[in-house]
Order: sequence, then structure tokens, then C-alpha cells
Amino acid sequence: MKMMKKNSVLIFVVAILIFIAMQYAGPDIKNPPVTTALPVPDDVRLVLKKACYDCHSNETQLLWFDKIAPASWMVAQDIADARKVLNFSTWDSLAPADQKAKLFEAFNQISLGAMPLKQYAALHPEAKLSAVDISVLKNYITSLVSVKTSDTSRIHAANKQYNEWVGAKTKIENVKPSPNGIEYIPDFKNWKVISTSDRFDNGTMRVIVANDIAVKAIKENHINPWPNGATFAKIGWEELIDSTGKVNSGEFRQVEFMIKDDKKYEKTAGWGWARWKGMQLTPYGKTETFTQECINCHKPVKDNDFVFTMPLHLKSK
Ligand code: HEC
Ligand code: HEC
Repeated sequence: MKMMKKNSVLIFVVAILIFIAMQYAGPDIKNPPVTTALPVPDDVRLVLKKACYDCHSNETQLLWFDKIAPASWMVAQDIADARKVLNFSTWDSLAPADQKAKLFEAFNQISLGAMPLKQYAALHPEAKLSAVDISVLKNYITSLVSVKTSDTSRIHAANKQYNEWVGAKTKIENVKPSPNGIEYIPDFKNWKVISTSDRFDNGTMRVIVANDIAVKAIKENHINPWPNGATFAKIGWEELIDSTGKVNSGEFRQVEFMIKDDKKYEKTAGWGWARWKGMQLTPYGKTETFTQECINCHKPVKDNDFVFTMPLHLKSK
């Protein structure tokens, strides 16, 4: 009996010593210099500051409980990972188009509830974003990306371009495959529209179409996971807003595909990803690792088999 008591005291003392030692061995979270102030309106910056800057900037302000090991190790890892993908303090190092894309991605992560990280928001209630905060971001991003034009000739030219493009039998032999080996699928022009999207990423309008296998799966409500062969295309046009405020589709921007095959594409979340850009249909990506970009952005809907679009008639269920 006495022996046991002694042992538990010993274990307790050792645990305390380890805990104290951990505090010394703990990571030192440094704030490297801020090279740019984020050039956005004050209200937008305030929203990002309160919810995102602790991880996605060099202006991390930790609370006392973030600094205690072992929690501090996890926090340090999160911050290092977060700064790598998005750092508002080195904003200038991004090209303007990438800045817009990052802001849109940030907005997406917020509106899907993926960011700020849940475990962080639970401990830092001030970081939770209100509906007002979210609309501040949305309005700002929309103002960046829409092309306002009173030039109807631009709209007519765009329509003409599109009609020619759809009407033409695309010379498939001229379209290069994607760097991951996926071949262009001209047939998507005959697929069924399952959704149009009013998201506003870089001022584009989008239409999402599905092939027969996917449409059948929708009818049979067999969509999580999607059956092999199910394929989606997302087509994007520039968005032109005319003087009356009406939205028109402008130039063709790109078409993207997701092709389901849980064996062939096991390494890329069960989907083959590919994108062709512009009227020349130039394949996107320098190497096959471009798919990581696609997967990262689709990750918030991984419980939906990585597919964002809910077919219209299933939405109410
Ligand atoms: C507690 C730390 C933390 C906070 C706070 C936080 N993030 Fe993150 N964020 C992360 C981590 C960790 C990653 C993942 C990096 C990776 O994939 O390696 C990440 C990834 C991202 C990505 C890139 C997604 C990807 O994988 O490409 C975006 C965009 C993003 N965060 C936006 C935000 C925005 C906007 C906020 C504020 C509303 C925010 N984050 C708040 C830690 C955080
Ligand atoms: C910035 C985030 C982001 C990136 C990066 C991204 N996507 Fe998406 N993708 C979306 C969103 C959001 C949707 C939902 C439709 C919409 O709102 O436009 C979507 C929809 C799609 C769809 C229609 C099926 C669905 O999930 O709804 C396809 C196909 C697609 N993306 C392919 C790709 C490919 C291929 C890549 C990489 C080359 C890619 N995406 C990269 C955000 C992204």
C-alpha cells in the first residue's frame, strides 16, 4: 500500500518535471517582418485581422493558453502551415491575379465554415465571423472582379465568339492533354446542365454540366460516393455587366473537368482533375502536381465526395 502511494507520487513529480521541461523545449513562435500592409479597405482588413491574422500573417498574437506546451506545438505547426499557403503580411509577393484568387479562396473557406479552424474558433470566440463580416468581404471581392462595361459591342463580340466556338467541331487533335495525362473531352457541350453558379471568383459566370453516368446517378440518388465514370465539367465565361446592370457572359475563360474513378485516380481523391484555358484550350498546370490546388480548394466538401454542386432538385432534401 505504502509502496503504491510512493509510486504515484513519483509519477506525479515526473509528470510535472516533463511538463516544465516541455515549456523550455517548446517552439518559439517568431513574427518575421511584415513586408506589406494589406491594401484593402479598413473594414475588410479588420475582419481578416480578427479571424485570420493569428495564423495567416506575421502579426501573430498568441493568448497565454496558446503558449503552453503541448498545445503550443500544435499551434506552432498550424501557424507554419498556414503562413505557407496564405500570408497577408507578404501580400506584395503575389501577382495581382493571384491576390484576387487568394481572396476568393479565403472567402470560400469562410463561407463553407472551414476557416478559421474550428478548434481555434472554439477557444477564440472573437474570431467567429458574423453575417455582416461575411458580407463586408463578399462586397469587396465582388467590387474587385466584375467588369463593368457600357460597351455593347464587347458583349456582341463575346456572344459571336461563343456561338462559333460551340458550333465548331473542335479539332481534338490540336488540344494537348493535361499534364496528368487526361485528354480533353469535347463532348461536354452536349451534357446536361445541372447548375449555374453565381459565385464571383474572378468575375466569371459558370455553368456546371454532367455526363450521362452522373445524370443517372442523380436520378437514382446515388451520389455519395459518385459512381466511377461520373464526370462533371465547369465552364467559365467572363462576366460583363452592361449599363442597365444586366449580367452578360463575355469571353470564354476555361473549362474544368472532374472524372470519377476511385482506382485510377486513387491518389488524387478518387477524381481525375483537368482544366483547359482560353479559346486556344491550353492545358493548365506545368506538372501533374497542379491537381493539389484543385483538391485543396475542394477539400471543404470532402464529405460530399469533393463535389460542391448539389443538383438542383436534390437541394431541398
Ligand atoms: C488557428 C490557425 C488558423 C486560423 C485562425 C485560420 N487559418 Fe486558414 N489555414 C490554417 C491551416 C493550418 C491551413 C492549412 C494549411 C495546409 O493545408 O497545409 C489553412 C489553410 C487556409 C487556406 C488555404 C486552403 C488550402 O488548403 O489551400 C485558406 C484560403 C485559409 N486558410 C483562409 C483562412 C481565412 C480567410 C481565415 C480567417 C477567416 C483563416 N484561414 C484562419 C490555419 C488557420
Ligand atoms: C479557388 C477554389 C477552387 C479551386 C482552386 C478549384 N475549384 Fe473547382 N470548384 C470550386 C467551387 C467553389 C465549385 C462550385 C461551383 C462554383 O461555385 O463555381 C467548383 C466546382 C468544380 C466543378 C464542378 C463540380 C463541383 O464540384 O461542383 C469542377 C468539374 C471543378 N470545380 C474542377 C476543378 C479543377 C479541375 C480544378 C483544378 C484545376 C479546380 N476545380 C480548382 C472551387 C475551386
